[in-house]
Amino acid sequence: MAAAGIRNIFIANQITHPLKLKRLRDLHEKTKLAVGTDHPRQIRLLNEYFSDLQSALDVLIEIDSGLQRCGLLPGPRLIDLARQIKESEYLNFKGIFTHAGQVYSAGSTEEIRRIAGQEAQIMLQSRQLLQENGIGCEIISVGSTPSAPYLVDQEGVTEIRPGNYVFYDNIQYKLGSCRTEQWAMFVLATVISQPAAQRIIIDAGSKALNLDRGAHATNLTEGYGRILNLRGEIVRLSEEHGVIQLDNAEEIIPGSAVLIVPNHACAVTNLYAKFYLLNQDGSFEIIPVDARGMSQ
Ligand SMILES: Cc1ncc(COP(=O)(O)O)c(C=O)c1O
Repeated sequence: MAAAGIRNIFIANQITHPLKLKRLRDLHEKTKLAVGTDHPRQIRLLNEYFSDLQSALDVLIEIDSGLQRCGLLPGPRLIDLARQIKESEYLNFKGIFTHAGQVYSAGSTEEIRRIAGQEAQIMLQSRQLLQENGIGCEIISVGSTPSAPYLVDQEGVTEIRPGNYVFYDNIQYKLGSCRTEQWAMFVLATVISQPAAQRIIIDAGSKALNLDRGAHATNLTEGYGRILNLRGEIVRLSEEHGVIQLDNAEEIIPGSAVLIVPNHACAVTNLYAKFYLLNQDGSFEIIPVDARGMSQ
């Protein structure tokens, strides 16, 4: 993103490995960075690595709004950590952030709304606690794709971080957070065999569709993606093969196209080197996926 000219980047994650800290430092010299934290040791590391830089590093504390992943609850540890950041010469305390990823196990729109409400409430509670202790909180950053629509107008929230909404996918559809016409990413597979009347095999396996069926709810999706142009279900994936059980016995000749809405667009994006961006007139452009495979 920095290489593409984006000049204000918040890494909503904790960075602790020396090699990654060095990369963070290098990046901070080129662009305005902010990073997440929830641990005193990490703050010491950040302060150490940024000690000889011109500008201080912006830091946001992660709040656990119910996902039970990273993050602190509003309480004494939050105050201690914020004070530690404020006392760190090369760091700048900017605010708090959260991601209520438990929203992916919601069974209804009402539940999504309720979780979004909780997400906002715990953040406002955290801000108030910080303020009562004389610590200002400039940024309150929240969000996931399902909860974001309920948080845009929320008083106090300064930033939302949905990501998946760029494409949406089958999981979002099953959750009720998008409509079918909002799907913007598809995997176009090819039938390679029909070994049985109700079984066809496609050339898209786990390396093309990912094994994701929803991170928090088991069996949120029926199969490994939603087939748009055939009646059947992707029941099994091996690395290079997808097994489709057809609803009815019908002949599907090898070479036929199968159009699939992936279960989880974020994970699938990371599997490809390029997208074919389809224009309305049927022409397409190739977009390289520069940021894939960058977890190392
Ligand atoms: C910390 C954090 N922020 C934002 C997001 C974006 O949320 P979503 O994928 O629901 O759009 C994620 C997704 O995993 C996340 O982990």
